Amino acid sequence: MATYQATASAPVNIACIKYWGKRNTKLILPTNSSLSVTLDQDHLRSTTSSRADASFEKDRLWLNGKEEEIERDGRLWVCIDALRKWRQEMEQADSGLDKISAYHVHFASHNNFPTAAGLASSASGLAALVASLSHLYSLPQTPSQLSLVARQGSGSACRSLFGGYVAWRMGEKEDGSDSLAEEVASREHWPEMHALICVVSDAKKGTSSTSGMQRTVQTSPLLQHRIKEVVPGRMDDISKAIREKDFESFAKITMRDSNSFHAVCLDTEPPIFYLNDVSRSVIAVVEELNRAAGKPIAAYTFDAGPNAVIYTLEENMPKVLNLINRFFPQEASFANPFKMDWQSAQVPE
Ligand code: PMV
Repeated sequence: MATYQATASAPVNIACIKYWGKRNTKLILPTNSSLSVTLDQDHLRSTTSSRADASFEKDRLWLNGKEEEIERDGRLWVCIDALRKWRQEMEQADSGLDKISAYHVHFASHNNFPTAAGLASSASGLAALVASLSHLYSLPQTPSQLSLVARQGSGSACRSLFGGYVAWRMGEKEDGSDSLAEEVASREHWPEMHALICVVSDAKKGTSSTSGMQRTVQTSPLLQHRIKEVVPGRMDDISKAIREKDFESFAKITMRDSNSFHAVCLDTEPPIFYLNDVSRSVIAVVEELNRAAGKPIAAYTFDAGPNAVIYTLEENMPKVLNLINRFFPQEASFANPFKMDWQSAQVPE
């Protein structure tokens, strides 16, 4: 009997307008829209192979070679179930199709970067899994439709199904059918944009995004201001900046939104601290670089951890690298900065 197999990979995405807060925790519906850049080089990628076979007795997943449990009704299970139902519908409509929706599936997923490095491995991992199973099932759904499923695995995963500049529209419907990702601009539209990843600490983060968000939604008055008064305008303004390739506006909005997100974390009870002293030094160095340049030429942003991502245009990457190397000396040297879309820096604490 035939075995069915497919492999797909998805890169990490780094948000410029941060998603923080769920209005529905089961469906993973956010309290605000968000926007990210997908890092499209070979680094920071998850690759997942799915295989369906009549002899398999249950669905199983191996992450970097170690088996992880697929809990019933858990996030992973929900994604697999949704895609399987789409396949079943196809099989019911077309009797010529192989009934592979009846087979169990084995998944092997691999991250080509340290899973616990505080970088968004859940986003790329879930996106790769959804992409791979949808290939296996030959599903006709568009990436935006698939993003509805990936979102339920890990919110930010919905944005990793696209390359380039991606918006996750929060949507209005209670069933989540309009809370999906869509492309704002392709990578090719603005290829000069580069990102430098500074790994400040590769320790696993103290407060997970799930529990942190829940606490913020329950306790932070500042979050209400952020989601109602701040983010909607920023979504429009940064989309315009991307369309017009206006780096200054892009940088200003990105830095302000990162700071707004971390302010909301601090406004949470008890407060959540994701940045450390090295993170704050990176902010100071970038602010000083921009002041000296007379305009923003680099933009920092931080997710739920101390690691910095610095966006800059290719022409300014040498300046940024020099500065980071000077203030945060490290053993690894940055070979071929122009050949890569981003560089990985180990910044010692
Ligand atoms: O999708 P999650 O649960 O890993 O949450 C991601 C939250 C941030 O990384 C802080 C922001 C974002 O939009 O990616």
